[in-house]
Amino acid sequence: MTMLDEQAREVLRRNDRGGYTVPTDGLYPYQWNWDSAFAAWGFATFDLPRAWQELETLMAAQWDDGMVPHIIFHRSDPGYFPGPDVWATNRTPATSGISQPPVAASLARLIWQEDEEMGQARLAALYPRLVAWHRWWHDKRCTHGPAAITHPWESGRDNCPDWDIGMAGVDSSGVGEYTRRDTGHVDPSMRPSKAEYDRYIAMVQFGVSVGWDQQRIVAEGPFLMADPGITFILLRAHQDLAVLGRALGQDVSEIESWAMELRNALPLIWNPVLQAYDAKNLRTGEFAGVLGSGAFLAYLAGAANPELDAQLMRVWDAVQYGIPSADPEAEIFDPRRYWRGPAWPVVNSLMAIGLRDAGRDDLVARLKNETAELIERHGFFEYFDPIDATPCGGDNFTWTAAIWLTWAGKDRGEERAKGAA
Ligand code: DGY
Repeated sequence: MTMLDEQAREVLRRNDRGGYTVPTDGLYPYQWNWDSAFAAWGFATFDLPRAWQELETLMAAQWDDGMVPHIIFHRSDPGYFPGPDVWATNRTPATSGISQPPVAASLARLIWQEDEEMGQARLAALYPRLVAWHRWWHDKRCTHGPAAITHPWESGRDNCPDWDIGMAGVDSSGVGEYTRRDTGHVDPSMRPSKAEYDRYIAMVQFGVSVGWDQQRIVAEGPFLMADPGITFILLRAHQDLAVLGRALGQDVSEIESWAMELRNALPLIWNPVLQAYDAKNLRTGEFAGVLGSGAFLAYLAGAANPELDAQLMRVWDAVQYGIPSADPEAEIFDPRRYWRGPAWPVVNSLMAIGLRDAGRDDLVARLKNETAELIERHGFFEYFDPIDATPCGGDNFTWTAAIWLTWAGKDRGEERAKGAA
């Protein structure tokens, strides 16, 4: 075990709040949905029971309709805004009112594969909840075909340029006064702008005004966009969930039909002008017209094609450290501002799974090397400037530590020795 391996474990242990893990101390003091699933994957490299427990605390917060919320406010923390009082979902424990990328089934599969016998009972208990969550995505969010989001935070890629056209239509004039907390924890130039935050809060206020009625939010809410990122993550997760179901002796035909429907909807998010998958405003039918990392998650769902391959190489070759979250050759590119340009190790780890399945071992090796170098030079930061490697956002970040243990740092010593020989 290397010193970085030990430090990565330490990050997970320190961010463990007893059964659930916070993304990072200060900036994100609660349990976040997809962060938590990555934390579980990281724990699986040295503490399998703790890995299962992470998924269990996450899925325990599931709503009656199947939704698994994006934040679970286990205990109040004044260092975060918007907190449980703003979301006002009337749940115990308190939660937000939107979801987040459904990576849990795919990561549960990887965790289960570590020790199938030991994981069987834990998996069997989780399985119905995972199915109910996937059904929620299918029924409530795939009504237009591809997976739709009702708030940019639901995508997990909060302020990526994909959402600009949808955000432009959100009226934030009635939001009122509030105090952001995120900019007290990290450099404001690395975070979303005030204009974006006003709109984020306006969307939360709309959810509260309709009692978090998902049907009304989809039908009448201020924001509804098709998200290529979630579409591909969900498609992959449906497939992984079906594998798990079969291993448990379950009938998985319903899950397979969701996957087939979702795959059939992919042409709806292919933008021929952009020559790539693209986000779409479902209120107007307009494409976002920007290339982002959500499109490249197509590899994860086995949905890439030669045009997308060419786009991937273009944006990747334009930076030193891949894969940028927005197109470096586009005007909106901002290399340190959250999802408007930086490279995110956690997204790279998902891409690597897809590239590996596509037989692109050369690209996997390159991506792993660049990701590992970022972490070796600067530690477990949330994200990095893809041009000069400047570490950005929160430090001692759970999911960056997790993907070091599961992927980027795996066999790193041996690989480097081989390279030097
Ligand atoms: C935040 O508060 O910035 C989060 O990303 C919302 O999920």
